[in-house]
Amino acid sequence: MDSIRIAIVGVGNCASSLLQGIEYYRGRNEADAIGLMHWDLGGYLPSGIEVAAAFDIDARKVGKDVSEAIFSPPNCTTIFCPEMPKTGVTVRMGRVLDGFPEHMQGYKEENRFVLADEEEASREEIVRALEESGAEMLLNYLPVGSEEAVRFYAGCALEAGIGFINNMPVFIASDPAWAERFRERGLPIIGDDVKAQLGATITHRVLADLFRRRGVKLDRTYQLNTGGNTDFMNMLNRSRLASKRQSKTEAVQSVLEVPLDDDDIHIGPSDYVCWQKDNKVCFLRMEGRLFGDIPMHIDLRLSVEDSPNSAGIVIDAIRCCKLALDRGIGGVLTAPSAYFMKHPPVQVRDDDAYHMTEEFIRGLRRD
Ligand SMILES: NC(=O)c1ccc[n+]([C@@H]2O[C@H](COP(=O)([O-])OP(=O)(O)OC[C@H]3O[C@@H](n4cnc5c(N)ncnc54)[C@H](O)[C@@H]3O)[C@@H](O)[C@H]2O)c1
Repeated sequence: MDSIRIAIVGVGNCASSLLQGIEYYRGRNEADAIGLMHWDLGGYLPSGIEVAAAFDIDARKVGKDVSEAIFSPPNCTTIFCPEMPKTGVTVRMGRVLDGFPEHMQGYKEENRFVLADEEEASREEIVRALEESGAEMLLNYLPVGSEEAVRFYAGCALEAGIGFINNMPVFIASDPAWAERFRERGLPIIGDDVKAQLGATITHRVLADLFRRRGVKLDRTYQLNTGGNTDFMNMLNRSRLASKRQSKTEAVQSVLEVPLDDDDIHIGPSDYVCWQKDNKVCFLRMEGRLFGDIPMHIDLRLSVEDSPNSAGIVIDAIRCCKLALDRGIGGVLTAPSAYFMKHPPVQVRDDDAYHMTEEFIRGLRRD
């Protein structure tokens, strides 16, 4: 089977889980592969994905082989594939811009980002590195709030002529101007902000949809999330958080027939609890009224390892992006974005997004 060459910006926990997963599934067959939505997606297996280039800014990652960098601090996600073969790809110094949150300085080095002393790469160097690597798409895993850095790397992907998968909530695929730039260049883009395999957002959406279908009026809801990784530490800075809140809130509002008043919905990352590491805990409450105007509520506590939960989706997003490249499709991939991402350009209920994505994979639709 053919391979798919990916470039990564941000070699953090999510990248670690993804790359571990590619290796982990290499040693399995379809019957014993747990945790995948697709074993063979349009002719591509998980093990066909290879890392071709990687960029970071952390002193403990830059200059290392990617297989080592993914296990370097402050990465703290579960190691489920400890024997990672060398990739031969060294993590390169990227461009910092607003990727390094100042407030992290107040935390222990082992838990936060540590800026490398290396000279930052220029735009030309990054574009050339992407071109020379043979990467076919760039996966963006930068910290929430890195508005400038994300636009910078998205611009590099455009210039290098490769696809883009935007796993976090700086709006690129859902910004019509950026979407148009990818369409004009004939390059596929999937985004924005990955919707984890079985995380808080999909659970909240499915339950909200259940209320709707069963005629239960949802009056109020909250979704409070805690975690102990750098993603949660980063989001302690409320000024970096706006787009994450928007992405998560719209993901739930969009499945309601009538959106809730702002005062009746509260969704977002709520605190950093160091010892939780990559374990994310979601406290979800939904208050509604059923037959006869009688009140009911759900209180739910969801506990998941955060980063493998994103990798279970990204492993399919990569293969859909590759199918688009094979088929000469550029611009936003509407169906995969709706199914895989929290803040796609077009929000669709998850059942419909699932069917649309299956049609895309089978070649029955082109976006
Ligand atoms: N885990 C999930 O389920 C999930 C779901 C949706 C979105 N996301 C988003 O995905 C992103 C990645 O998550 P993570 O847990 O891997 O984060 P992380 O903090 O572990 O990794 C971020 C990486 O980016 C690097 N970085 C920072 N600035 C950079 C720059 N300018 N250039 C290159 N590298 C830079 C950091 O050094 C770090 O290695 C976050 O924005 C997160 O919100 C994650």
